[in-house]
Amino acid sequence: MPGIVLVGAQWGDEGKGKATDLLGPRVDYVVKFNGGNNAGHTVVIGGQIYALHLLPSGILTPEVTPVIGNGVVVDLEVLFAELRALEARGVDVSRLLVSSNAHLIPSYNRTLDKVTERFLGKRQIGTTGRGIGPTYADKMTRVGLRVQDLFDPGILRQKVEGALMQKNHLLVKVYNRRAVSVDQVVDELESYADRIRPMMADTALILNQALDRGATVLFEGGQATMLDVDHGTYPFVTSSNATAGGACTGSGVGPRRIDRVVAVVKAYATRVGAGPFVTELHDAAGERLRELGHEYGVTTGRPRRCGWYDALVARYAARINGVTDFVLTKLDVLTGWDRIPVCVAYDVGGSTVTELPASQTDIHHAHPLYEYLPGWDQDISDARSFGDLPPNAQAYVRAIEELSGARISVIGVGAGRDAIIQRHIIV
Ligand code: GDP
Ligand code: IMO
Ligand code: MG
Repeated sequence: MPGIVLVGAQWGDEGKGKATDLLGPRVDYVVKFNGGNNAGHTVVIGGQIYALHLLPSGILTPEVTPVIGNGVVVDLEVLFAELRALEARGVDVSRLLVSSNAHLIPSYNRTLDKVTERFLGKRQIGTTGRGIGPTYADKMTRVGLRVQDLFDPGILRQKVEGALMQKNHLLVKVYNRRAVSVDQVVDELESYADRIRPMMADTALILNQALDRGATVLFEGGQATMLDVDHGTYPFVTSSNATAGGACTGSGVGPRRIDRVVAVVKAYATRVGAGPFVTELHDAAGERLRELGHEYGVTTGRPRRCGWYDALVARYAARINGVTDFVLTKLDVLTGWDRIPVCVAYDVGGSTVTELPASQTDIHHAHPLYEYLPGWDQDISDARSFGDLPPNAQAYVRAIEELSGARISVIGVGAGRDAIIQRHIIV
């Protein structure tokens, strides 16, 4: 089973890091194909908590080669800080490969991310402030800097000069900030060149050759379907393609290489930052989900907005990504409710709709229509087979499986590496 894509089905933080870690021992390569250090993945191994941002979660599995693909935006300072922190905890990070085509996040884009958000005022997106949006914008307007540029001093300087001609006008005249000097940016970037040289590779070639040999490659998406720049709730999205198609463009392999598409979906829903969220709870139930689920951002520490499972979103994710398997996480967090609402349709201006509306305005004005499923009280965190779950928990899983457009192959019942129920073999 050589090519597997793993993506988030909702608004991120579904537990993709844990799901990648779960598949880790059975794969040869884990490739991050989009986003940057806006991601935050928590993986719990033997009681030890690892928080990853820029690095693929596969870095925690000894036999895996972790790869940062061309679709990723790389903050070099963060990259080396994260590598150092893992090394200090005894993790072997020597196998990491970084695409020579990946774009770099220069410091001025971090500044611009923060000041543009401030200027947006009420209309702000609530970005992570890591420079993600401005860096992808630079890539598209062709003033970006790539990893390989670090090794051609003439080109690097020329590109930084070109970018700063625009950026300094913006910084000084629009945002009232100090101009940035070309020397300062070039010096900072070049200070990492020697360290990144041994990791830099033609990762698309390496991955295609690996697939030719029959090796198994896991393409790990950051963010999620509803944050995808094309398919999410634009403009309240991130600036990359977090859906399965992004795995191909973000790593340089063709779509025929992909055999399975795994979407990670939480048994309820959360969102960080602004944007529509039809099943959001503003009451004690939302507060309870946040506390029981520890729903606070790994990257920014912000409390996550919480709400009930939205089957329209899950079905949309199944369709946009071509999902073959769902990994359902955090079922344990739903223990203790008398009845659990599941959103099965929206009321939009008096009409009942059962698929995610194509119009963003309709999504903003939609009200959730719920079906209520009976809850359970027994602690399920030690369940290791589907039959160990109380009948109502089994019924909940079957009901959302029926509504969500693909089989639920794995169920998470706790944060630890072993706290899972495997229903179907993915790899
Ligand atoms: P990611 O960004 O998709 O990798 O997800 P995050 O790491 O940001 O958020 C998911 C959180 O849920 C992490 O703290 C995980 O340790 C935790 N987690 C993952 N699966 C489960 C599960 O099945 N049950 C519980 N209780 N926690 C889980
Ligand atoms: P993981 O990989 C949840 C959100 C931000 C903001 C919007 C745009 O851990 O699931 P950006 O900094 O990307 O320009 O912010 O996207 N966002 C995330 N929300 N999980 C993430 O990553 C996210 N990455 C970005 O909160 O609303
Ligand atoms: Mg996260």
